[in-house]
Amino acid sequence: MKILVLGSQGMLGKELVSRLPAFARASLSPITVIAANHTQVDITRGTDTSRFIVRERPDIIVNCAAFTNVDACETQRTEAFGVNASGAKNIALAGKEISARLIHISTDFVFDGTKNEPYVETDQPNPVSQYGKSKLEGELAIQEISDAYTIIRTAWLYGHGKKNFVTTIRDIGNKNGSVSVVTDQCGSPTYTADLSHAIWTIISRNLQGIYHVANTGTCSRHEWARKIFELTGDQVSVYPLKTGDYKRVATVPQNSTLNCLKYATASGHTMRPWQEALKEYLDA
Ligand SMILES: NC(=O)c1ccc[n+]([C@@H]2O[C@H](COP(=O)([O-])OP(=O)(O)OC[C@H]3O[C@@H](n4cnc5c(N)ncnc54)[C@H](OP(=O)(O)O)[C@@H]3O)[C@@H](O)[C@H]2O)c1
Repeated sequence: MKILVLGSQGMLGKELVSRLPAFARASLSPITVIAANHTQVDITRGTDTSRFIVRERPDIIVNCAAFTNVDACETQRTEAFGVNASGAKNIALAGKEISARLIHISTDFVFDGTKNEPYVETDQPNPVSQYGKSKLEGELAIQEISDAYTIIRTAWLYGHGKKNFVTTIRDIGNKNGSVSVVTDQCGSPTYTADLSHAIWTIISRNLQGIYHVANTGTCSRHEWARKIFELTGDQVSVYPLKTGDYKRVATVPQNSTLNCLKYATASGHTMRPWQEALKEYLDA
C-alpha cells in the first residue's frame, strides 16, 4: 500500500510520516510512504498537484497541508481559501483520477461554538472565522468530488517540531513568571502522535465519511495552561482572562469540544485523556 502525505513538513504531517512505518510494521501491513512538502507539491496549483499524484499513484492520500494561521486567514482570505478550499478540491480531483482514497484533516473551527455539548459529526457547521469557512469549503468540495474519502475533524493540536499553544505558553510563562489565558474557550487538546495513530487506524480499518478525532476530555485554555505548568513544575502563575478582554483578529468558537464516539465505536479504539497525552509530550 502506497501512502502519500501532503504537507509533510507541517506539525502533523511530520509526526505522521515519522510514525507510519512503525504502525504498519506492528500490524504487518507493508507500506511505502511518500512525503511531499510545500515545495514539492503546492496544492493550490491544480495541474502540478494532479501531475504529481497521477505520477506517484498512491493508494491513499493524506492531506495535512493547510493554511493554519487563524488570524492571518482574516486578512489573507484569498490565500486561505486557495489552500484550504481550492487546494482540497485539487487533491480530490487528482485522487479521483487514480481512484485513491483521500484522508483529509479538518477542524473543530467549522462549528460556531454555541452548542453546550460536544459536537457530533451530524451537527450543522457554521464557521465564524475565515479559517473555518475555508476549511468547510474544502470539506464540501471533497464530499462532492471524492468517491472514497474520510474527513477527520480534530482540535487544538500540539506536537513536536513546531510552535504551538504548549510551547508558546511555556515560553511566555517562563519569561514573565506569569501568563494570562482565556477561561471561556473550551476544547480538546490533541497530541499529533495520538492523532497519527488514529489516522493509521482509519486507514487500516477503511473507515470512511466524517469522523471527529481528538484526545478524550475537554478543558478551557486556562485549564490547559495550568496543567502544562503543573506537569513541568515551572513556577508560573496562570491568570484568568475573558475572550472579550483579549484582542485577536479572528473570532473563535467558545465551545469546540468534539464528541468522538463515532470514531471510538467504529475503530474499537478510544483516544486517551488529553492530560495523559500532554504528560507524554512534555516528558519527551
Ligand atoms: N494546529 C491546530 O491546532 C489544528 C486544529 C484543528 C485542525 N487542524 C488541521 O490539522 C491539519 C494539520 O495542521 P498542522 O497544525 O500540522 O498545520 P501546520 O503545522 O501549519 O502545517 C501545514 C503544512 O501545510 C503546508 N502548506 C501550506 N500551504 C500549502 C500549499 N499551498 N501546498 C502545500 N502545502 C502547503 C505548510 O507548509 P509551509 O509551512 O511551507 O507553508 C505546512 O507544512 C490542518 O488541516 C489543520 O487545518 C489543526
